[in-house]
Amino acid sequence: MNMNKGIEEIIKNLGDIFGSKNFGDKIVLVTGGAGFLGSWICEVLVEQGANVICLDNLVSGLNSNISHLMDKDNFKFIQHDITQPIFFDERIDVVMHLASRASPFEFEKFPIQILKANTLGIWGGL
Ligand SMILES: NC(=O)c1ccc[n+]([C@@H]2O[C@H](COP(=O)([O-])OP(=O)(O)OC[C@H]3O[C@@H](n4cnc5c(N)ncnc54)[C@H](O)[C@@H]3O)[C@@H](O)[C@H]2O)c1
Repeated sequence: MNMNKGIEEIIKNLGDIFGSKNFGDKIVLVTGGAGFLGSWICEVLVEQGANVICLDNLVSGLNSNISHLMDKDNFKFIQHDITQPIFFDERIDVVMHLASRASPFEFEKFPIQILKANTLGIWGGL
């Protein structure tokens, strides 16, 4: 799959989730947004005009994955651990939960943190 085809696929799948390909009025929280998958999703959503809140504690993600989005009006980065509660002033339309270490080597090293990111992390994002 080439890059454009991959991006088209992300837009199609997000459109199916949102029930529309008009993302302009949507506020989307992407947890783990500085990671490999999350940063791609942030990029596509920003390009499609959604208002993106990228939340990440940068344990395995990188600032450089999102540095090119930092000056966009429809992109906001919050450094935060999603296993801790967080409250937002704005309404959130969609939460895309990608915040979790993903490497099988990390599963052995950080089992509790990974478990918390995928349990408390979902709760904290709501
Ligand atoms: N990469 C793949 O091929 C793949 C395939 C299937 C499923 N997944 C799943 O998708 C998710 C993301 O994978 P990835 O490859 O982008 O991993 P990644 O490590 O690149 O991204 C995960 C992001 O979550 C952040 N994070 C971790 N714990 C956090 C916490 N408590 N609070 C806030 N941020 C936190 C990390 O800093 C990182 O930026 C994982 O759940 C992974 O298991 C990935």
